[in-house]
Amino acid sequence: MKVLVVGGTGVISTALTRLLVARGANVTLFNRGRTGPTVRGVRQVTGDRDDREAFVAAFANETFDVVYDMICLSPEQAEDTARAFRGRCQQLVLCSSAVVYGSRLPPHVLVDETQPLEPVSPYGHAKLACERTLEQAAASGAFWLTIARAGHTYGPGGPMDDQLGNDGTWDRVARGLPVLVAGDGLGLWQSTHRDDCAAFFAYAGLNPRTFGQTYNAVRDETFTWREYYREVARALDTRAKVIFVPRGWLLAQSPERFSFLDEISGHHGAYSSAKARAHVPEFQPRIGLEAGARETFADLRARGAWPDGTTDQQYERLVDRAISLGLPSEEA
Ligand SMILES: NC(=O)c1ccc[n+]([C@@H]2O[C@H](COP(=O)([O-])OP(=O)(O)OC[C@H]3O[C@@H](n4cnc5c(N)ncnc54)[C@H](OP(=O)(O)O)[C@@H]3O)[C@@H](O)[C@H]2O)c1
Repeated sequence: MKVLVVGGTGVISTALTRLLVARGANVTLFNRGRTGPTVRGVRQVTGDRDDREAFVAAFANETFDVVYDMICLSPEQAEDTARAFRGRCQQLVLCSSAVVYGSRLPPHVLVDETQPLEPVSPYGHAKLACERTLEQAAASGAFWLTIARAGHTYGPGGPMDDQLGNDGTWDRVARGLPVLVAGDGLGLWQSTHRDDCAAFFAYAGLNPRTFGQTYNAVRDETFTWREYYREVARALDTRAKVIFVPRGWLLAQSPERFSFLDEISGHHGAYSSAKARAHVPEFQPRIGLEAGARETFADLRARGAWPDGTTDQQYERLVDRAISLGLPSEEA
């Protein structure tokens, strides 16, 4: 195998070069000769790829089975590589980066039940103590224990939470007024409709597979906070005007008021329900956030419990301050 490595003496490409040599490949490296040392047994071609024409010309009379471009960092460099090796190699391997994914994470980046338990809030410590206490009872033969861990669960009878635990947020959204989101709105969040969550509990009952087991009873669909505000605002047939404010700034204003943010919603909240769905086949969360929010809003109105978002002077002052500071905003 005749191989060219563009780079070849860097962190990754040194290891690559070693492995290629070990495979018995005929290896050529192209680099400036500054970073080293070059792996023994390879041919070194010295040059700077930023000298574009020289780079393209450097291998004009050669062909390779494989060319690895380990240091392609711009479209211009990619063009040079394409020009240099078109018809001159069977395979071109580009070293790219996971940075291409940006900040959007797929739905399967989820915490399962094997995750270490490290609560950060008094609520979390208390719930863990409950689990431990009942586990001890179960261990001594008191019963089969099934632990079902709910995530954020909403629906008729309760509020439609926002990230800050602020009652009036959705009224403000409905009125076209700006609302606050902590951080950059890219934290992860799940919300499970109470009917879906309850289905797990219901069908876990007397299901022997669940005896002695622990589950996340959540809907796996995962949102960034930006997406969450967008979906819930859809249930109000509008868009949410969100202002991104530092989490610490909010907590400094009022730790008590923003305790939900401090204890829960300021962290990623993305959990896997795979085990729950496997052991309890009837548990198949199906209620999407927009539909669930519509139902919850209708219930709040029907109950006369719709919060008025315009009477909260403290929140209004925070919004004004965030605007005057020029903090970033967007229509989610
Ligand atoms: N490390 C990570 O965590 C990570 C994560 C994701 C993706 N990546 C990707 O990994 C690649 C980097 O690989 P690496 O670790 O082997 O690289 P590296 O450690 O940055 O080494 C750079 C290599 O390229 C050569 N080079 C640099 N500038 C050059 C130029 N103008 N002309 C010719 N040769 C040049 C260097 O040799 P000389 O200085 O002697 O010329 C050296 O061999 C990048 O594509 C990056 O996007 C890295």
